Amino acid sequence: MLRINLSRLRKDLEDLGEIGKTAEGGVWRSSLSEADMEARRWYIQRMTEAGLQHWIDAAGNIFARTGEGGPAVLAGSHIDSVPNGGRFDGALGVMAAFECIRTIQEQGVRTRLPIEAVAFTDEEGRFGGFIGSGAVAGTLPPEEVARRRDLRGLPLAEAMRNVGLDPARIPEARRDPKDLRAYVELHIEQGPVLESLGLPIGVVQGIIAGSRTWVTFHGRADHAGTTPMSMRKDALLGAAEFSLRAREMVLSEGSGTSVGTVGVLELKPGASNIVPESAFLTLDLRDISWEVLQRLLERTRSLAHEIAQKWGLEATVERMRVSEPAHMSPHIQAIVDEAARNLGLKTHWMNSGAGHDAQILAKVTEAGMIFVPSRQGRSHSPAEFTEWDQIENGANVLLHTLLRLAEG
Ligand code: GLV
Ligand code: MN
Ligand code: MN
Repeated sequence: MLRINLSRLRKDLEDLGEIGKTAEGGVWRSSLSEADMEARRWYIQRMTEAGLQHWIDAAGNIFARTGEGGPAVLAGSHIDSVPNGGRFDGALGVMAAFECIRTIQEQGVRTRLPIEAVAFTDEEGRFGGFIGSGAVAGTLPPEEVARRRDLRGLPLAEAMRNVGLDPARIPEARRDPKDLRAYVELHIEQGPVLESLGLPIGVVQGIIAGSRTWVTFHGRADHAGTTPMSMRKDALLGAAEFSLRAREMVLSEGSGTSVGTVGVLELKPGASNIVPESAFLTLDLRDISWEVLQRLLERTRSLAHEIAQKWGLEATVERMRVSEPAHMSPHIQAIVDEAARNLGLKTHWMNSGAGHDAQILAKVTEAGMIFVPSRQGRSHSPAEFTEWDQIENGANVLLHTLLRLAEG
């Protein structure tokens, strides 16, 4: 039975892990940053050395291909990372897809349909996330491109132009759904379930709905020594109460498995002797149910305004991104399960609490995901790790899933 080359895949993952490496041993490759661009150049060099046909589309997505004719079976993920993130999140899916098509080409295996490896632009969300996959799926309208910016206020359009991409051409990255046979993404689980069950392969059934909301409380900058406590408009008080109340809202009004996170909190002007004039925060809310998420998002807005009023502040609430939940294709779930079984690997069927490009591709083609265990469930942290034999298992399951889908 055909197998991937683990030492080659491991070297690629280790080499990629050196790009944007942090002192703690993680990686920091925000999309379109210098480190991301270096990783892109490195990957293109690797594809060139492998003699694989490759190209970059109008959204900056990087593709490689083996085979000709007919709709393509796509496999991939992302090589951008969260700040000081792990070396496997996204990178595994891209490098394993690359390894699969390299193996297929090297072994002279002929598939009926072509197989492509893809690295999507901005999955993690420097610019809100799902830029590349949204462009390929055709779900990223120009007004959305115009609206997206990073936490420093840098517009996506400008960041693209800075690296030689023309944002006006993003629609050209759309792939006609007729040109796509399927999309499969291998990813680390990023949670503790597979490890705790002692099972090597996760078959993903569904992906949660996610959202990112930017909330700013506006107060007034005043002297920290001379302004009596009763005469202040302290923006932090709004943000502090909002953070606690958002948690309560998730616990009492969510589904029981809803999650909410304030991950960024920034005060301006930011000096110990100035009452904060503004407090900016991000709220990441998720649930497997679209209805529950909608309800929580509605409540978020009223909560911010209610709290602002209480402290004599103004609040602005901007919904940066909302992504619908997605079902993975039952057909691909069955193929993944069978591929794992044929390799002697037991599976666990589960949902994903993390967002993935697969949930965007699922709008236009059959999509599926394969999970491998994460040590202690750690992710979005330098502590992220997956044993190499587990990576080999996952990549081989991906290989046989792709081969099967490429039969037609
Ligand atoms: C992506 O990693 C996300 O789920 O935030
Ligand atoms: Mn990821
Ligand atoms: Mn991630």
